[in-house]
Amino acid sequence: MSQAIPPLIREEQLHERIREMGRQISRDYAGREPLRLIGALKGCFVFMADLIREITIPVRVDFMEISSYGNAMQSSGNVKIIKDLTHDIAGEHVLIAEDIIDTGLTLNFVMEMLLARSPASLEICSLLVKPAKMNLNYPIKYQGFAIEDHFVVGYGLDYKGFLRNLPYIGAVSSNEQLLLFDQLN
Ligand code: IMP
Ligand code: MG
Repeated sequence: MSQAIPPLIREEQLHERIREMGRQISRDYAGREPLRLIGALKGCFVFMADLIREITIPVRVDFMEISSYGNAMQSSGNVKIIKDLTHDIAGEHVLIAEDIIDTGLTLNFVMEMLLARSPASLEICSLLVKPAKMNLNYPIKYQGFAIEDHFVVGYGLDYKGFLRNLPYIGAVSSNEQLLLFDQLN
């Protein structure tokens, strides 16, 4: 059995902050409905499921999958589209929902690509931001929590595809906490 991963942000803290973010988004986009919420898979799905239920204006979703990390804990700089959007976003008010912004490399790529499709507006919403190495060329309109530069898992965020099911954000503090997942195929 692997060691428990200590919580950095507890479930209640996540829910409270996401409720505030949903209210703020609903206020800001009132009069510009409908909103298109775009999730960057796979990490976004838990955050987005909670966020959308706190939004009270007409909203539709779409998803894209971009890969920047593979299975490693460091950004590779290689960004590729695995799944593109299903809908045309031209003329739509679009909000990108990210799980975490680390270097910002992934998002720089996504922003350029989506801006070229002529949305009416395009903004960024991220549950977590690691300011230490961030090199994002665009402003973050909605930010859940700024965190230190350490590897976090849970609430959608993974290590080698695992630990997305952890109900809180945990900070990995020793390799032993990940041993089990290194052994699984
Ligand atoms: P960036 O391109 O460096 O900003 O990396 C963004 C992506 O890397 C995120 O959407 C995550 O999928 C992944 N990532 C960055 N930091 C972490 C982390 O601490 N834990 C898990 N995944 C992370
Ligand atoms: Mg991601």
